[in-house]
Amino acid sequence: MQVELLEIVSNKEIAHNIYEMVLKGEMVSSMNRSGQFLHLRMNDPNLLLRRPISIASIDEDTCTLLYRIVGKGTKDMSRYQVGDFVDTLGPLGNGFHFDFLSEEDQVCVIGGGIGVAPLYELGKELVANGNHVTFILGFANQDDIYYYEQFQELGKVILCTDDGSAGLQGHVGVALDQVDPTAVFACGPTPLLRLVQSSYSHLEHVYLSLEERMACGIGACYGCDTKKKDKRTCKDGPVFQRKEVVL
Ligand SMILES: Cc1cc2nc3c(=O)[nH]c(=O)nc-3n(C[C@H](O)[C@H](O)[C@H](O)COP(=O)(O)OP(=O)(O)OC[C@H]3O[C@@H](n4cnc5c(N)ncnc54)[C@H](O)[C@@H]3O)c2cc1C
Ligand code: FES
Repeated sequence: MQVELLEIVSNKEIAHNIYEMVLKGEMVSSMNRSGQFLHLRMNDPNLLLRRPISIASIDEDTCTLLYRIVGKGTKDMSRYQVGDFVDTLGPLGNGFHFDFLSEEDQVCVIGGGIGVAPLYELGKELVANGNHVTFILGFANQDDIYYYEQFQELGKVILCTDDGSAGLQGHVGVALDQVDPTAVFACGPTPLLRLVQSSYSHLEHVYLSLEERMACGIGACYGCDTKKKDKRTCKDGPVFQRKEVVL
């Protein structure tokens, strides 16, 4: 873990209120696992707490973040220009592990909304590991969809929208019976994680990435403990085995 000013290579809106920010810096070389996150200090000095954003892609000398504008911090981020620097603490947290998988294993990766973001790097890593990946991706509607083509390059994508404006109508639950995987990885809102947790109770390898609100990001403040209280999302997670967390 280190603090570094990462340089913005690009920052653009790619779907309704969803932005893609590409960053460059030494820290990229220490990013080696999907599911980890960066803790960004906002340029607006009134915003004291850092904001956690997942690493969506790790490339040769850049990393990519995908974020949704929900409040002042993410609005501030959307205004950053190419060549600006972002004070970044990272990489943080424990990401996705899949060393138990054998080549050719079928894997299901399930994401909802902005929770789809960290699953892109995971997908790249699973494909490099020789696994067959089916992505089940849920969005509110057609305007919220991002990275659809990028995921299609990695495997089969089953798209779901709440209003049926693209793909299957309904949340990701409508597609779960289409896959019989060895392992499942998921990130998204709590109801999605709860559904995945209960639907795959017969499987050993089910991993959920939580997005609790955070303060310090390094395990010091206990501001992000899970309902079980003995686990902090930032330090022990954000990825947990399904049996480890109460949602
Ligand atoms: C490990 C981790 C990884 C994350 N990865 C991403 C990512 O890749 N892309 C992305 O867009 N967001 C991600 N988030 C969520 C992101 O951190 C928040 O959206 C961001 O901090 C909001 O800051 P803000 O100042 O814009 O909003 P605020 O003004 O702080 O809040 C605006 C609204 O959003 C709600 N909110 C804020 N943070 C969260 C949260 N963590 N969960 C649920 N509701 C929240 C608030 O309750 C409030 O209603 C991640 C969070 C965690 C913990
Ligand atoms: S944010 Fe401080 S312990 Fe997790």
